[in-house]
Amino acid sequence: MQTIFQTIKEIAIEIDHAIKTEDLGYSDSSNSSGEDQLKLDVKSDFLIEKAFASVDIVKNLVSEEKEGVLELHENGKYTVCYDPLDGSSLADVNLSVGSIFGIYEGELKGENLVASAYVVYGPRIELMIATKEGKPLHYRAQEGLFNFIGEVTLNEKGKLNAPGGTQKNWCDYHKTFVDDLFAEGYRLRYSGGMVPDLHQILLKGGGIFSYPGTSDVPNGKLRQLFEVIPFAFMYEQAGGQAVNNKGVRLMELVPSHPHDTSPCFFGSNYEIEKLKEAYGVTA
Ligand code: AHG
Ligand code: MN
Ligand code: MN
Repeated sequence: MQTIFQTIKEIAIEIDHAIKTEDLGYSDSSNSSGEDQLKLDVKSDFLIEKAFASVDIVKNLVSEEKEGVLELHENGKYTVCYDPLDGSSLADVNLSVGSIFGIYEGELKGENLVASAYVVYGPRIELMIATKEGKPLHYRAQEGLFNFIGEVTLNEKGKLNAPGGTQKNWCDYHKTFVDDLFAEGYRLRYSGGMVPDLHQILLKGGGIFSYPGTSDVPNGKLRQLFEVIPFAFMYEQAGGQAVNNKGVRLMELVPSHPHDTSPCFFGSNYEIEKLKEAYGVTA
């Protein structure tokens, strides 16, 4: 597993360089979710595939930017599911973007995730790694090397609210839930990139990030294997919770297709319990 983390560190430096130096425009292709791909999406995907091609313990790769499963090493143990460049449409306005990695052993479902990691490309490059052994580990790059900053723990209750999705398509009880948080004094923190938005909540002690199902996208926008499950694991390891609109742990998701999405809510315990009440799904 350490080989995979080392490879992610090397990938992070290369993708950061591409973001800082390459064309920010669109390619002439679209991905499996029907989204136009930026040249940086394609380049980041290529860099990740190239890096893992020499890591024998990686059996398969599943990318947000590719349709199916790419077989790498027949005798490998893990499947790495990844979003090469999350929030890529924010690169041309110079906001932070990220890469997300879910490492699975066996069938691709939440309970088989064994570790996750994400990289934030911002003013600095940061990396967070979560394993079953303990709290997420926070690193920051300096001159190409990642220095360990510390373990991350969420408070029981936070102050930040990051409500995703198109507001006019929210259902009434979701709108009431979000409004109630603001009425309690929560502050809006939403950049439109789930990596920096979830990273901020983790590092500033807590709050909630939501991307609900809406009338236009009933299953939400965020993809289970590459986005939802890796962050659900990160939040649970930090002492928080991550659930869907039924109050079910996102770690219990079983996608029927690699690109399946799910409504998702990640936060500290107080906010997630409040969400379950608002959605009428308290146990
Ligand atoms: P991607 O760039 O990989 O397609 O994903 C972007 C995601 C996520 O980062 C963010 O939270 C969400 O899309 C924002 O969606 P809206 O455009 O609906 O706000
Ligand atoms: Mn994404
Ligand atoms: Mn992406």
